[in-house]
Amino acid sequence: MCGIVGYVGREQAAPILLDGLEHLEYRGYDSAGVAVLGPTRGLQMKKAKGRLKVLSAMVDGGRTMEGCLGIGHTRWATHGQPNDVNSHPHLSQDERIAVVHNGIIENYVEIKEFLISQGIRFQSETDTEVVAQLLGFYYKETGDLMGSVYRVLHRIEGAYALGILCADVPDAFVAARKDAPLLLGYGEGCSFVASDVTAIIKHTRDVSYMEDGEVAVVRADGIRVFNAMGQPIEKEHSFIDWDVSAAEKGGYPHFMFKEILEQPEAVRKTVSPRLRNGEICFEELSLTDEQIRAYKRLFIVACGSSYHVGMVGKYNLERLLRIPVDVMLASEFRYADPLVDQDTLVIVISQSGETLDTMAALRQARALGGRILSIVNVVGSSIAREADDVLYTWAGPEIAVATTKAYSTQLVLLDMLGLYFARIRGSVTEEESERILEGLRALPEMMERVLQEKEEIQYLASRYFNHDSVFYIGRNLDYALGLESSLKLKEISYIHSEAYASGELKHGTISLIEPGTLVVALGTYTPLFEKTLSNIVEVQARGADVVALTTESRRDDMRKTVPNVLTVPDTHVILEPSLGIIPMQLFAYYVALQRGCDIDKPRNLAKSVTVE
Ligand code: M6R
Repeated sequence: MCGIVGYVGREQAAPILLDGLEHLEYRGYDSAGVAVLGPTRGLQMKKAKGRLKVLSAMVDGGRTMEGCLGIGHTRWATHGQPNDVNSHPHLSQDERIAVVHNGIIENYVEIKEFLISQGIRFQSETDTEVVAQLLGFYYKETGDLMGSVYRVLHRIEGAYALGILCADVPDAFVAARKDAPLLLGYGEGCSFVASDVTAIIKHTRDVSYMEDGEVAVVRADGIRVFNAMGQPIEKEHSFIDWDVSAAEKGGYPHFMFKEILEQPEAVRKTVSPRLRNGEICFEELSLTDEQIRAYKRLFIVACGSSYHVGMVGKYNLERLLRIPVDVMLASEFRYADPLVDQDTLVIVISQSGETLDTMAALRQARALGGRILSIVNVVGSSIAREADDVLYTWAGPEIAVATTKAYSTQLVLLDMLGLYFARIRGSVTEEESERILEGLRALPEMMERVLQEKEEIQYLASRYFNHDSVFYIGRNLDYALGLESSLKLKEISYIHSEAYASGELKHGTISLIEPGTLVVALGTYTPLFEKTLSNIVEVQARGADVVALTTESRRDDMRKTVPNVLTVPDTHVILEPSLGIIPMQLFAYYVALQRGCDIDKPRNLAKSVTVE
């Protein structure tokens, strides 16, 4: 989704902005632009549809723009097509003010009508241009930039992270935030603003996160931050301790491939520090044992793959805790009048910690009296900061749009949380608990074993990459696993695919099975293995080609029915999805590779979905 970077310092701004934008490319975008302010040439702006390299070529890597102060943007179209004109920055009519914006201005039509009635002529179809034009309009009236910024912020509705450059202010730019992430970076003789830390981490690790309603005036020698009333405030600084190389491709063909291979280590980092002397320790949790015992119901709320983690969690947590666990898509939850009260714990899952629907669901749940526990990968992100408790997954930066290692670490952390609660509530036997703990300890090594089977998966992908439609079928945990497997395939290979609970096929979908249809049958949930075999036979009888996944102990049984069998090691049944997902991710990856798709940046998708 859209990305913002701003710089002010002693060096030429444009090359720094372009480099920052390059590090935001992974978020997904369709056009890019920069505005720079220089002592000789004043406010200069360049923007272009397409990849960043198009813009970079236009400005010779930034060398044709002059000035040590600037803002840059990658746009993911919402209002108006992806084209040069709709790209950001947008200018006020007198071209004295340039604005970049992430988010959506919901009342832009009404403001646009007002401005048109005042003689303002619009260039683009975007909601963002109203911010630039309204700001220019107020500024022309008063000549007071900060006063005009506040007037604009009071008038616009919706979500925004804004970067604002004014031709009359040669040493500073302004940033503002509401419901869209924005952070400030403090360098040596320079300052930054960015929507995502990856854009500036090579320049500084000293950052602070802007809160809703805050406005910052960013200068080379420091940043002043004001609250919604215009009063100065002190910001808490955070230190980013990421390994920069984790956000680099490091010789791998794609980030997604690298991140698939990183999963054993990511899971090890997430699990090991929380396993001590045979106990699960969540020192970061402020929930008391008494509160954990008192909850009568759990909700899991998330989007996309994080929602699929919740689907696995429903089966596993209900099994362990024997209380109802409802899983809801965040975009549905927020408008569904959900049955949440003070007896409900709401578990919110998000890799980025910035997904707008998930954030809105969190606020809705809190307003209804629920307590919020979040599972988040990005430290300091909005969801992490707003939740009552946060458990971090230690997957490290995930760059590929299609999540892999973040999904795996979310999954294992939710399993651990379920077991932790179950031990406190006394709803799991000592013996069962021991077997799960043993499985958790062995999981990274088992994942490594699964990764060694890559070639076989690549071979299967080369046989089936030409299919137009793929079905994933499974029961119970395998159904939940199928949902994520199917999403992986469709998002990166653009093949139509659906996940079905095997038992549900005969209620309609089996009509789509015809000779040559590819069905991926998931049979890692061994308690229902025989039922899955029956469903496989049903689709084979209708001519489907079947690729099956099962555990090593059931390989021979599966082979009697299906020639193409992939296996994962046997572990405790609740942990099987953590192993089963790896061959499915690899299958999707190799299929997309064969089809020549843009694997790390699939069309129309964004890494962090900050619009509704
Ligand atoms: O950052 P989040 O976990 O909140 O993101 C949720 C979804 O947008 C995300 O999982 C999306 O479905 C991925 N592209 C899937 O690979």
